[in-house]
Amino acid sequence: MSERQFSTIGVIGLGTMGAGIAEVFARNGYDVIGVEINDEHVVRGREHLEHSTGRAVRREKMTEAEQKELLDRITFSTDMADLARADFVVEAVVESLEIKKDIFRRLDEVVAPETILATNTSSLSVTEISTANAHPGRVVGVHFFNPAPVQNLVEIVRTVVTEPEVLEAVKALVHQLGKNPVVCGDKAGFIANTLLFGYLNHAVSFYEGRYASREDIDAAMRFGCGYPMGPLALLDLIGLDTAYEILDTMYKQGRDRLHAPAPILKQMVTAGLLGRKTGRGFYTYEAPDSPIVV
Ligand code: 3HC
Repeated sequence: MSERQFSTIGVIGLGTMGAGIAEVFARNGYDVIGVEINDEHVVRGREHLEHSTGRAVRREKMTEAEQKELLDRITFSTDMADLARADFVVEAVVESLEIKKDIFRRLDEVVAPETILATNTSSLSVTEISTANAHPGRVVGVHFFNPAPVQNLVEIVRTVVTEPEVLEAVKALVHQLGKNPVVCGDKAGFIANTLLFGYLNHAVSFYEGRYASREDIDAAMRFGCGYPMGPLALLDLIGLDTAYEILDTMYKQGRDRLHAPAPILKQMVTAGLLGRKTGRGFYTYEAPDSPIVV
């Protein structure tokens, strides 16, 4: 069988992860169709892309002409029907099983039966999402890491019915993006989040129990263990709401005490302290990309 060629990529949902994924594909020469639920979300997604590529221009990693070329490769829509010509679709909407299943159901009416469909879910069941589609064999998980243009890992999640040809095609595509694919089965948290979030949750417990200050917890892991960020600063980057959902899903599925969300996490989410995106989490920020203020 000849190797699949991809040229047009659909990205559904242009939040932090979706916009980052759209940027990764556009940077690598693919045409991207970004779909959002309304014009307001399209504007937010476009701004995210302009901001992220603008940072590369400021750092002289990209010229203004290259930025324009990259952004011109991305078209925006509020209509999923515009994905008809996509040969690979990545869904990156909110972590709601119902919403994701609805999208995979509707995709049957839009794309060709051989178009590969992927979900960027971080902890929901890829198998359950795939069963909403008439052709679950073409569905995989592709889990990018935040910030997607920087982190070089993509977890490819295969279900018990993912076709081997689909898995190989997605692996080759991830390589083409200059990223490292790792393949795993469909278990909440996959490889990296299962290992990472027990550690992050433990750090929150230390903070909650006043065992050490946030600065010292973070400094210990940065300077003692060589992590690029301390765990509390990383949670602010990930988003405390996302972190809570991931922990809660993993805990419900695996009953591993390490994943029982530290109570303060839920309290902070309820109070709207979601991290960088709301300007306050464990630390305070002037803007989502600014350094820690206090
Ligand atoms: N978007 C795009 N590019 C970004 C970025 C962003 N949000 N943040 C940083 N960058 C780029 C910078 O432009 C710079 O690029 P360059 O080398 O080409 O100039 C490069 O990243 C390094 O940035 P900085 O010099 O500003 O800062 P640092 O060296 O401190 O790196 C970091 C920032 C990349 C965020 C680094 O601290 C890091 O890797 N942190 C850990 C992130 C991590 O663990 N992510 C995984 C989270 S878990 C997850 O995503 C799973 C999900 O399911 C929750």
